Amino acid sequence: SSTTSSTGSRLEGKIALITGGARGIGKATAQEFVKQGAHVLIADINDKNGPNVASDLGPKAQFIKCDVSIEAQVAEAVDAVIERHGKLDIMYNNAGIIGPYYPPSITDLDLDEFEQVMRVNVRGTVAGVKHAARVMKPVGSGSILCTASICGILGGLGPHPYSISKFAIPGLVKSLASELCKYGIRINCISPSTVATPMVIENFKLIYPNATSEEIKKIIGGLEEFKGTQCEEIDIAKAALYLASDDAKYVTGHNLAVDGGLTC
Ligand code: NAI
Repeated sequence: SSTTSSTGSRLEGKIALITGGARGIGKATAQEFVKQGAHVLIADINDKNGPNVASDLGPKAQFIKCDVSIEAQVAEAVDAVIERHGKLDIMYNNAGIIGPYYPPSITDLDLDEFEQVMRVNVRGTVAGVKHAARVMKPVGSGSILCTASICGILGGLGPHPYSISKFAIPGLVKSLASELCKYGIRINCISPSTVATPMVIENFKLIYPNATSEEIKKIIGGLEEFKGTQCEEIDIAKAALYLASDDAKYVTGHNLAVDGGLTC
């Protein structure tokens, strides 16, 4: 089917850094990028899954431990890529957290928890863009991807801190696209619909504590249906593949919703 991963050469010779690549959407994208000829560095705080995901991908993938909310660690990860490979073609700022589940009222908001979500989702993305741009500018090319969400297009779909953090991402992309295009650097973001990744399943378990993972997947499936199908990791990986590749060489400043029409 068109949603299965396939081998090809759309990223042949490219060096990609993917944050949050140890599981979920980032892992699926790392797999897809390697299949398309890229060399992928997986930067993640999770140093249990991360090295296994990289080694399963063979010699074209490595793991780098990195907490994106700490700028020095992002800078080090980017520098490690340059030391090992001499360049960075693709930076995919995918790492993110949903934060604690809230009852849907601002009056219950814990601002410290809000700040933690902003630190990872917004500050972490800004750090990734900053340090990728630092090494891409002298070369005069590069593709930067960021991760927004359907929760950053419509209000009320997710917990407030998460939603607020995701509304920031298309703004960040638009704000920076006009500067970065002068250096041949493209920057775009993807807004995925609900994908039953570990993040989403763990979050739904807070809302439905007695439900099994399979039951939660059914609940998620019932939330949105596009001709009887749900959004899957590979759907996001394929969008990332397009935006990362030279097929999108004139595309910058966009927010690509991959949501089966949910936000239309
Ligand atoms: P996930 O939780 O399954 O994977 C996220 C990865 O990011 C994990 O490996 C985690 O260890 C890593 N991570 C978390 N905090 C980090 C940090 N401070 N530094 C480095 N790595 C860190 O989540 P999923 O679902 O794959 O999400 C990936 C991105 O897609 C996130 O930005 C999320 O907000 C976004 N997204 C996901 C949707 C979904 O339905 N799954 C929908 C819309 C957006």
